Amino acid sequence: MASILPLQLSHVRLAIGTTIVAEDFTLALAAGDPTIVVGANGSGKSTLLRLCHGLAIPTGGTIAWARDPKGQQAMVFQRPSMLRRSALANVAYGLKLRGMPREMRTAIARDRLCRVGLEAIADRPARVLSGGEQARVALARAWALDPQILFLDEPTASLDPAATRALEDILRAMADEGTKIVMTTHNLGQARRLGADIVFLHRGRVLEHAPVERFFRSPGTPEAAAYLAGELPW
Ligand SMILES: Nc1ncnc2c1ncn2[C@@H]1O[C@H](COP(=O)(O)OP(=O)(O)O)[C@@H](O)[C@H]1O
Ligand SMILES: [Mg+2]
Repeated sequence: MASILPLQLSHVRLAIGTTIVAEDFTLALAAGDPTIVVGANGSGKSTLLRLCHGLAIPTGGTIAWARDPKGQQAMVFQRPSMLRRSALANVAYGLKLRGMPREMRTAIARDRLCRVGLEAIADRPARVLSGGEQARVALARAWALDPQILFLDEPTASLDPAATRALEDILRAMADEGTKIVMTTHNLGQARRLGADIVFLHRGRVLEHAPVERFFRSPGTPEAAAYLAGELPW
């Protein structure tokens, strides 16, 4: 299938009322290894993902895909909401909406649950699962759609270290199979482990977009250096 990437944002601006939420997001997201978005609270990370995913419409600038991204993008939210159904039904739901026959969607949903290590709880109500399990169900749900690009907003923020690593392993597997991962995080160790390139946001602007090694070794702006210093140790 032809790639919907790169995704090019040019001087994207978002004003909500009198508040400037995004000042200037200029950025290209290319196919390949994961891109990690970092920045202080309120710097615009969630806004950037929402804009990319089409959940917020820019009040200025342009967002351009290489081709129509319809159905080829997915997003995992910080606190994923689960339908009042089994884990399996949650994972299959998006496929149902796409009109996929029951047998086929159930098979895919089982496969994805299996790959996130949750085959044993497929029939349990999703809402009674632990936070870590729900995070994996949310990931399986996105994975079932086989998106070309997957946006994740701090998916490990409320997870313990073991659950965090488990989620990282899954993301790496998805990336290896060709899904472009774009993820925000406050966990700089995670950014280093997963990221090929880092996008650094500051006050609604993209201040840096650099290969991971270079970003951590020699940040190109005083703001990024200060951010990294403040977050030590990772
Ligand atoms: N719907 C909104 N209305 C007004 N201000 C908003 C809205 N959404 C976000 N903001 C503001 O925009 C800035 C960026 O928010 P956000 O993208 O959530 O940052 P981050 O995810 O990096 O913490 C913050 O100052 C936030 O308060
Ligand atoms: Mg956020």
